[in-house]
Amino acid sequence: MGLFFHDCFVNGCDASVLLDDTPNFTGEKTAGPNLNSLRGFEVIDEIKEAVNSACCGNVVSCADILAVAARDSVAILGGPSYQVLLGRRDARTASLNDANSDIPRPIFDFPALLSNFQNHGLDLNDLVLLSGGHTIGLARCTNFRDRIYNETNIKPKFAASLRGICPKEGGDDNTATLDATTANFDTEYFKDLLKLKGLLHSDQELFKGVGSASDGLVQYYNNNPGAFFADFGVSMIKMGNMKPLTGSDGEIRMNCRKIN
Ligand code: HEM
Repeated sequence: MGLFFHDCFVNGCDASVLLDDTPNFTGEKTAGPNLNSLRGFEVIDEIKEAVNSACCGNVVSCADILAVAARDSVAILGGPSYQVLLGRRDARTASLNDANSDIPRPIFDFPALLSNFQNHGLDLNDLVLLSGGHTIGLARCTNFRDRIYNETNIKPKFAASLRGICPKEGGDDNTATLDATTANFDTEYFKDLLKLKGLLHSDQELFKGVGSASDGLVQYYNNNPGAFFADFGVSMIKMGNMKPLTGSDGEIRMNCRKIN
């Protein structure tokens, strides 16, 4: 799911994020938000090989594989399923600069998060719903250190326990879970935000307890798991429809790591 998000937010869902750097080609993998953060490239390679062999050839794009894999990982972890539209083609280009500028950062405050999403044609609901993707997965110490040592809108006991994992200096790559039930797709992420137990600064920005619109949405989805499941699928479809390459644009890559 993280791969799909970092693909779609950089010039659309075109599998540009999967391209490896070579001596004559610079991809997106070394961009700040991607380096040491994105995992699962080998899984995509395996799926691509299996799909090519099942289809007796190269018919399913890497961009579509990312979309379907994101959906299936959500469903396998107990989340909703939804109907992914297919037919995306793969980019023959990538942009390191755009990857650095277009993917939201965990240090962003609420206005920056919202305007980043709006620049991608997404709205406040999508921001809260898709951030709910943090109901699974991990983050590295370097991405939450400042929050656990310097912020005040964090539950003190929670901050103290994280300090054990994430020292003031060193341990940059030590990980903590983004919510308390990391292997389950559920509404725990929202519950944690209500308890001031958001791991990233950007997570807790969605709930500050001041009665803002995003506060209300966090409360609503915490109280209505069914609505979260249904609406999450709608937002994922919306994200997955951002600027796809279609027709004769792009190509269907043989190997997701390199252009044909
Ligand atoms: C709202 C803005 C967002 C910010 C600032 C943000 C930031 C982050 C950060 C910093 C990490 C940890 C990376 C690391 O430490 O290596 C992370 C992990 C993750 N994010 Fe986000 N994210 C955002 C939205 C999303 C969205 C929209 C999705 C998908 C729908 C998503 C899915 C994930 C997943 C699944 C992980 C865990 C990855 C893993 O464990 O391998 N995030 N995010």
